[in-house]
Amino acid sequence: MIRVRVGDFKIGEEEKQAINEVLDSGRISEGQKVREFEREWAKFIGTKHAVVVSSGTSALIAGLTALKSHKDLNIKSNSKVITTPLTYIATSNAIVLSGFEPVYIDIDKETFGITPENIKAHLEKIDNPTEYSIILPVHLMGYPCDMDKINKIAKEYGLITFEDSAQAHGTIYNGKKTGSLSLLSTFSFYIAHNIQAGEIGAVTTDDPEIRRLVKKIKAHGRMCDCPICYRAEGKCPKLSSHKGKDDFDPRFTHDIIGYNFKAMEFQAVLGIIQLKKADWITEKRRENVKYLNEALEEFSDILQLPKYDEDVSYLAYPIVIKDLKKISRKKLRYELEKRGVETRPLFGCIPTQQPAYSFLKEKYEGKLPNAEYIGLNGFYVGCHQYLEQADLDYMVNTFKEVLK
Ligand SMILES: Cc1ncc(COP(=O)(O)O)c(C=O)c1O
Repeated sequence: MIRVRVGDFKIGEEEKQAINEVLDSGRISEGQKVREFEREWAKFIGTKHAVVVSSGTSALIAGLTALKSHKDLNIKSNSKVITTPLTYIATSNAIVLSGFEPVYIDIDKETFGITPENIKAHLEKIDNPTEYSIILPVHLMGYPCDMDKINKIAKEYGLITFEDSAQAHGTIYNGKKTGSLSLLSTFSFYIAHNIQAGEIGAVTTDDPEIRRLVKKIKAHGRMCDCPICYRAEGKCPKLSSHKGKDDFDPRFTHDIIGYNFKAMEFQAVLGIIQLKKADWITEKRRENVKYLNEALEEFSDILQLPKYDEDVSYLAYPIVIKDLKKISRKKLRYELEKRGVETRPLFGCIPTQQPAYSFLKEKYEGKLPNAEYIGLNGFYVGCHQYLEQADLDYMVNTFKEVLK
């Protein structure tokens, strides 16, 4: 039986050689290759800096933690973060675990992101906007949120914006890439994403202080944070503040409470190789979305097919059931899976459909109709770059067999 997977990863000769070179170098923990991937990723996204960390989740936590320590921002623990209810759970988990309170705003049914209109309506009706600190939108499935309008609202209310761009590698919004449209942004290079490197993630920013803080936080808040370290020359700028302590070592002295979110050289070399293929990956996925949309058009009264946009870098091929009398998501997924077409649910509406957030269920029940509908009736199939014409045709024929 043909198996059409949601994502795939192919290790070629180039990857094997790069991994062997890392092994031969004698350095497998974070080093020069991670630095190179950071430079290349920042260049690709169009920001001054990228800091690579161990995952997209740790990128979110490190970014949020950095904001609380930032000398020019007044961001407090326990303040409120406006975010999306429809996302992979990592976004919400990172907000909660970093000591913030998520506030969920409903989404757009077609592009799955939080809308400026809903954010504005929420901020206008609350009594105390000063309890809020951050707007954290997610560019789900590669679709960009309307960042110009969201940034404008943020400015009006004195909030900062933070994009979770884990699922949008190379999406263009008004001429710029997602991940470069706010004070800081995060990415995941998890295997199911467009640029795959195993498990690492990154924080991108133009702000040198955020870069400095994230680099410290990912290394347990260590004091050693010079852009160029002179320790090998016996010089350390930190020593002047520690006169008289001649055994002081800034690598083992910590001035912020942090984590171990460091990456490995193996992962960085995979990222570097993948990034060279970024344009091909994006183009191939987009072509596949276009092809599937045309081939499945006849079912557009039953299924909401993904909106096609030349500027979107697609993570997958999202579908929402429109006509529940015709078929349920459960039945359609079951029939597709039975025939070898892999599917995944569109994550669920976090406060009302995810058991870990059941403490919020009563508060949000019925208040997020689009997210709840898509959480129950949305799913995705693959559109990745390794799908062959035969895979696409098999997928289309399988839909036809099940839906006719
Ligand atoms: C929107 C979003 N945010 C964050 C993450 C977390 O990334 P990671 O799995 O690398 O921790 C993911 C992972 O898929 C994601 O889709």
